Amino acid sequence: MRTPLIAANWKMNKTTGETREFIMELTPLLRDVTGVEIAIAPPFTSLPVAAKFIKGTDIKLCAQDLFWEDRGAYTGEISPLMIKDCECTYVITGHSERRQYFGETDDVVNKKLKAGLRTGLSVIMCIGETLSEREEGKTMAVLERQIRNGLSGVQDISNIVIAYEPVWAIGTGISATPEQIKEAHSFIRKILKELYKDGDSVRILYGGSVTPENSSEILSIEDVDGALVGGASLKVESFIRIIKSKGVKR
Ligand code: PGA
Repeated sequence: MRTPLIAANWKMNKTTGETREFIMELTPLLRDVTGVEIAIAPPFTSLPVAAKFIKGTDIKLCAQDLFWEDRGAYTGEISPLMIKDCECTYVITGHSERRQYFGETDDVVNKKLKAGLRTGLSVIMCIGETLSEREEGKTMAVLERQIRNGLSGVQDISNIVIAYEPVWAIGTGISATPEQIKEAHSFIRKILKELYKDGDSVRILYGGSVTPENSSEILSIEDVDGALVGGASLKVESFIRIIKSKGVKR
């Protein structure tokens, strides 16, 4: 059984005060939600305050990125140990904004993923094609390359989550169509099953312009095991509607 995961990726948004307010507003609304796991990924600076205010709730904490060394002279970087120390359960790696703006390659993503696993974190690895790759008919080849390279050397995938996020759908208001999502997710599942005997147990999230309006449809597609939500996760009102489109009321 794959428990659906709805994760909020706040990107470079929210101060510590705004983080506290969000969690205090969200928590009481989660009382009638069950059957979904919820995670929030605030900026690094808000992890400690988030950890404090989610105590006693079922909300999991997620970091948006990590470096692969535990300590050392790497100005500006945050290590997996530090993330674990902030009580994170999850960490994201390979987000397309990291790949696009910070030049992260599959090799970097793989190093970060292994560092997260070694530290006991669950890793959400993002993959996805650009618009030109889709237009050139390279979508499946890109996804396969990103999966194989990203998971290179990884034997145990029990703490891996894959997020399919077509780059052209992120922050654009244009989500992929149900057909495109279904095709990509079943392809990702096929590759995972080729690589691992328990490939069926890995959750595959969809991300890219998920909103309360399209979440029910997206989350009901086969092999869509949750969502990674950017813009619509910044307001409690829209985030809770997305959660409730999947979470069964008690
Ligand atoms: P979006 O972002 O929901 O704003 O499109 C998703 C993501 O980048 O994880």
